[in-house]
Amino acid sequence: MEDRRRLLLPPMAEILGFGGYVPERVVTNADWEELLDTTDEWIVQRTGIRRRRYAAESETTLTLASNAGRAALEDAGLVPDDVDEIIVATDTPEMMTPDTAALVQHDLGCREVPTYDLGGSGCAGFVQALDVARARIAVDPKRILVIGVELISRMISQEDRATAILFGDGAGAMVLGPGGGRAKILDVVSGTDGRYAGILTLGAGGTRHPFNEASLSSGDYNRLIMDGRRVFTEAVRRMSEAAVTVLERIGMMREDVSLVIPHQANIRIIEAVRKKLGLDESQIYINVDEYGNTGSATVPFATAEAVAKSRIGEGDLVILTAFGAGFHWGAAAVQF
Ligand code: ACO
Repeated sequence: MEDRRRLLLPPMAEILGFGGYVPERVVTNADWEELLDTTDEWIVQRTGIRRRRYAAESETTLTLASNAGRAALEDAGLVPDDVDEIIVATDTPEMMTPDTAALVQHDLGCREVPTYDLGGSGCAGFVQALDVARARIAVDPKRILVIGVELISRMISQEDRATAILFGDGAGAMVLGPGGGRAKILDVVSGTDGRYAGILTLGAGGTRHPFNEASLSSGDYNRLIMDGRRVFTEAVRRMSEAAVTVLERIGMMREDVSLVIPHQANIRIIEAVRKKLGLDESQIYINVDEYGNTGSATVPFATAEAVAKSRIGEGDLVILTAFGAGFHWGAAAVQF
């Protein structure tokens, strides 16, 4: 009976490959000191960020996404023909329509497989996309390329010191499949509280505030509205709660966790999450100092980096946790 039931269980999604890409150009805090009324000291103390990468003029969101996707396929020992579906999580798409995922499909040379973007979930987009992908695999065993990508430097004001210094450009990717992977996605939790939509938003360009002469001349078209303190508090609460919830759901304890890879927004947010979860410094992955906040790319990029640097070994339980505009949040439990 037990065996028959197991046969009826849907396949559990596994991760077959990891990949990441960041542009070459490095923008340091000293560079910002030349352009804005800010200091390296302020940026490091408040955010932990020392430098970030910016896309070259010749690069677009598609360049970043495809490079990360290619790296993940190569890591999995697969070719574009092996991909059955593509999901791209991004708030900085190549264009309004069609979706970036369709462009990635063509650019990588994949078959006519379904693609879609998961847009507007801010920095939580990739973890949400993982949740969708594992559900898709449960009903239809297939290989899904999941990408988190942002080219934020071109989309938000470079004159607003409160937001410009926080972000960098980059992409991360994972190839998911129904078996034969290097890590199993044990569970994912996702949540949303739409009441807070207005305190972290880039509104212009949508139907409420279409691009027009007024938004262009007032500079509103690229102004990221952010209540930094509210975002900070909610990010800490939601990321740590999501991590605890996903652990409870898989019947594991905090002591079982080898590494937590949180969304890389700010070192103080990451530190607060670490303390709330009662973890020591070796149990939390940090690269926000090097790359800044790359939105939906932080979690897959950091995971690919942690794997490449052998920070994750066989048998490790890894928790990915993210928070972003919406507010959206989520956490995934991954068994290597
Ligand atoms: N350089 C120098 N001074 C600055 C800068 C800057 N780059 N930016 C703001 N300031 C000034 C402000 O104008 C303010 O001056 P005032 O006191 O004269 O009014 C002062 O610094 C303090 O500003 P606060 O906003 O109170 O500073 P705070 O300690 O809250 O730090 C920060 C700001 C870093 C944005 C923090 O609130 C934070 O990290 N919040 C999380 C936001 C975040 O990570 N957003 C990313 C997108 S969402 C996500 O990824 C989860």
